Amino acid sequence: MWDISQFLSSSLKQPKLAIDGEAFNFFSSMTTTTTTTISQHDFYSDGDSEKSISVSVIENMKEEYGLFVWPCSVILAEYVWQQRSRFRGSMILELGAGTSLPGLVAAKVGADVTLTDDSSKAEVMGLTWGVWDAPIFELRPNIILGADVFYDSSAFDDLFATVSFLLQSSPDAVFITTYHNRSGHHLIEFLMVKWGLKCVKLVDGFSFLPSRKASVLSGNIQLVEIILSSEEPAA
Ligand SMILES: C[S@@+](CC[C@H](N)C(=O)[O-])C[C@H]1O[C@@H](n2cnc3c(N)ncnc32)[C@H](O)[C@@H]1O
Repeated sequence: MWDISQFLSSSLKQPKLAIDGEAFNFFSSMTTTTTTTISQHDFYSDGDSEKSISVSVIENMKEEYGLFVWPCSVILAEYVWQQRSRFRGSMILELGAGTSLPGLVAAKVGADVTLTDDSSKAEVMGLTWGVWDAPIFELRPNIILGADVFYDSSAFDDLFATVSFLLQSSPDAVFITTYHNRSGHHLIEFLMVKWGLKCVKLVDGFSFLPSRKASVLSGNIQLVEIILSSEEPAA
């Protein structure tokens, strides 16, 4: 079992956290105690058990989006694991991280990870979409992650504004996100054009998920990779 405290002291850039044991939830110290469970996530390396990892996350069963490991996060974390050679040594920024499973896996495979979430809720780096607080000007990620960050269409424009800004700061970077393919899909396409972005990869999130994980998830989840388009953002 992977010890979160080792990881926190090594590759994660964030304010210091008091973490007990191995399970991780960066919101947990900010919330009143409610029903908690520990969800365990295993990542196997083609039969080589020594190279496999296991991440445990404390879930807080409260009506709070960031306190639960959402299916999009399970899929994005699996993608990070399967593409771990791409992530090793990269600067990773996770937006709307919540319980942060993709970022945790990225850190475990050797990435330098910064976790962020809404500044009003997070004890890690606050990064509210569409808000230009000083720290955002220092960020130079190679890869931006975001699991299930497209769930409230009223926030899509702010999210794309932030992603577009980050990609312009690091023009070779890519935004990798998993989302439920709902009616907001056309809005996402529209806003990508508005913010000078383009999709370079679009796959069914279940297409690469091991069957033991796919069997307990449902929905129509897509994974997309988004980069700056060569054209200027629409005025
Ligand atoms: C559905 S949860 C997904 C959490 C996690 N990525 C996962 O998949 O398990 C959406 C996350 O986006 C964050 N969020 C929502 N609106 C935000 C905003 N305007 N700025 C920054 N983060 C935001 C929430 O706090 C929450 O952690």
